Amino acid sequence: MKIPFGKPIIEKEELDAVTKVLQGPILVHGPIAEEFESSFAAFTQAPYAVSVASCTAGMHLVYFALGLGPGDEVIVPAQTHIATAHAVELAGAKAVFVDAELSTGNIDLDLIEAAISPQTKAIAVVHYLGVPVDMVGVNQIAKSRGLFVLEDCALAPGTLLDGVHAGLHGDVGVFSFYPVKHLTTAEGGMVITKHADLAKKIRHLRAFGVDRNHSERKVPGMYDASALGFNYRMSEIHAAIGVEQMRKLPGFLERRRSNFERLSVELSDLGSCRVLPQPNEGRFRSSCYCLGLLLDEAVSARRSEVMEALTGLGVGTSIYYPQPVPRMSFYKNKYGYNPSNYQNAAIISDRIVALPVGPHLKEQDMFFISQQLKKVWKELNV
Ligand SMILES: Cc1ncc(COP(=O)(O)O)c(C=O)c1O
Repeated sequence: MKIPFGKPIIEKEELDAVTKVLQGPILVHGPIAEEFESSFAAFTQAPYAVSVASCTAGMHLVYFALGLGPGDEVIVPAQTHIATAHAVELAGAKAVFVDAELSTGNIDLDLIEAAISPQTKAIAVVHYLGVPVDMVGVNQIAKSRGLFVLEDCALAPGTLLDGVHAGLHGDVGVFSFYPVKHLTTAEGGMVITKHADLAKKIRHLRAFGVDRNHSERKVPGMYDASALGFNYRMSEIHAAIGVEQMRKLPGFLERRRSNFERLSVELSDLGSCRVLPQPNEGRFRSSCYCLGLLLDEAVSARRSEVMEALTGLGVGTSIYYPQPVPRMSFYKNKYGYNPSNYQNAAIISDRIVALPVGPHLKEQDMFFISQQLKKVWKELNV
């Protein structure tokens, strides 16, 4: 593939850092995970950052730490990764889905109130493709109902609203460092929060709920478990990659933004589709995860043909996200599926083609992508 959709940038710095950890005495519970947490906290300006095994693990930990369980409900966007909902269900609570707004793909704030019940304990939002959700509006709803707010920031490193980083508007933000994300640790995640007590609890519960970590043990191997907890820690090996990626993150973000801008301009005269806008000035600043090309209804049935043709021409694509989550079998079988409730999420899932703008690509790659798209449009008579 000439232009893969995503490609982690792992260079000598990451390789050296990993080798150094592997040659040293500490593979888990060490100073590198702490260093990664500090640099992520400095970048986002978060008072607290706690590294975890993945974004899914981080979100599960948050709901577990809140004590959510059977009988509790969490508002979840219908247009997101399955993990946003699974984290709720793993805690034993119920995901109550809310449709997206068609203009951004973010949760439709006007529909949240109607989905809230006496059982609702929290609202989860996702910054779809890195475009900030209007957190001022979300917080207004949450505050008036006494609800906790979780921001799924898997696509949101670098996302800003009113100059404040995503994840710090609500009560907690959870990031993913899966390989095709803005930065990677292979697998990994980070929880950021302004609440000291929540950060402390998450640290405790990510490591079995034991009462002392290795460095605090006077007698080696001796500890007590004061709570039920998980093994959701990040290893020193993963964190070592993260520390190096953090040094490169500003450059990665700049490239994503300029690639996105360039490709948007190049595609502005392409018919039968529209580019989902990603604001980059003023109050809302997107992290520009990818470029979402929304096909018009008339050509939406030909999406697979379009994607296959692009693959044949060396341009990798993807779909974000393949189905509204409530239409996924697990949720459909559990709760039933009423298509009229999730019309916009379905339009996005069924018509989007995600195009690459990652930092593995340069300006000339954006020209190449747009040329190939125009070729495909012609060949398929779109
Ligand atoms: C919005 C969103 N949330 C959560 C996840 C899951 O992240 P992880 O693989 O780190 O658990 C993803 C992964 O793509 C995602 O896109």
